Amino acid sequence: MSAEILDGKATAQQIRTELAEEVRELTEKLGRPPGLTVVIVGEDPASKVYVRMKHRACGEIGIASEVIEMSVETTTEELLATVKRLNADRAVDGILVQLPLPKQIDEQTIIEAVAPDKDVDCFHPINVGLMMVGKARFLPCTPAGCLELLRRAGHTTRGKNVTIVGRSNIVGRPLSVMLAHRGEMADATVTVCHTKTRDLAAECRRAEILIVAAGVPQCVTADMISPGAVVVDVGVNRVEDTTTKSGYRLVGDVEFEGAKGVASAITPVPGGVGPMTIAMLLTNACTAARGHLGV
Ligand code: GUN
Repeated sequence: MSAEILDGKATAQQIRTELAEEVRELTEKLGRPPGLTVVIVGEDPASKVYVRMKHRACGEIGIASEVIEMSVETTTEELLATVKRLNADRAVDGILVQLPLPKQIDEQTIIEAVAPDKDVDCFHPINVGLMMVGKARFLPCTPAGCLELLRRAGHTTRGKNVTIVGRSNIVGRPLSVMLAHRGEMADATVTVCHTKTRDLAAECRRAEILIVAAGVPQCVTADMISPGAVVVDVGVNRVEDTTTKSGYRLVGDVEFEGAKGVASAITPVPGGVGPMTIAMLLTNACTAARGHLGV
């Protein structure tokens, strides 16, 4: 048996087509297109690729997107000044500061400086808190992308044992909260695994849905997956490969070839969760713009 491949690229494309219509309506009502500004600090190659993809995706559906590139030596104060300027700019509906930031910058200070109504990442404590109590205005992009991909493929989480590997603020922790809410793509019994988990393989094998966001290349192998489980691989890792032009290739946190012989459905890397994250960012940009109607 070979698993159903959960095609994030095709699903994201479908969402983008739906959003293009919403962007047209918003543009008419606002008298300008929805605006998203992405700030990138430094030269991290992976971050630069992500930012370029976000910028291109905005353009394709009519969102006015600007990318601000700042030097690797930028200070917290300089980045704060940029964020404050964007907070005050009425043509900017959404602000995204690409993480990670260079080590001299205090990441939390920057996250808290973004106006909550423009926080399309859903990283601001106010938005995290609203999400926590089930009153979310934005959902964090990667967790929302995982659940939307499952939903559109007909895989409900209701009543299921869902195991999450990884407890990051960006993916694992918010996803655990979302899955424990009431609802069709929630109502799960959630286990969160991390570096101190005693028997990771045993916890993974209990999962009917296994979501891996550990940031460790191919750390989940076929023997850790229960036959018939649905596997969502959030990892994007560059590993050296001298046979490719770039000298590297992308692998997930799951050993894909082995896992697809055991799972009933699995996301590929690339082409799984990654494109869904961008589709959810575009969704949040539209939500932010809608919130600014009549303001
Ligand atoms: N770095 C990795 N993922 C993300 C994300 O979703 N948002 C931001 N701002 N930075 C990231």
